[in-house]
Amino acid sequence: MDDLYREQIIDHFKNPRMKGRLEPHDFSFEDDNPLCGDRVRIDLRVDENNRITEAAFDGEGCAISMASADLLLESILGKDIEEVKKLSKEDVLDLLGIELGPVRLKCALLSLKVLKAGVYGLEELEEELT
Ligand code: FES
Repeated sequence: MDDLYREQIIDHFKNPRMKGRLEPHDFSFEDDNPLCGDRVRIDLRVDENNRITEAAFDGEGCAISMASADLLLESILGKDIEEVKKLSKEDVLDLLGIELGPVRLKCALLSLKVLKAGVYGLEELEEELT
């Protein structure tokens, strides 16, 4: 079973479906994994009901971080922002389907951290504070 998931991770790393940038976008946020400095940026477009119509990520990182960003963004298309706010670490780990140690866990959860920060509007908050 693990092998199947590993193949899926490599495939999403090598052939990402959701990689790119959205200009204009409704939400955008970028952050890094403090352990390695790898960065991910996520752009989202939503419709009038706050449902995600388009999503894209950009950045550099290891296979786990890039594959999890790709899988995560694929999984949120059509969801509304409130549903995205409720996504958990377990949801991302289910998408990846493999056991991960603590360092690899940070890689896997980088895109979730960026996504949640984006939808919670931290970018606007930071702008207001600077
Ligand atoms: Fe940097 Fe995985 S090694 S995100």
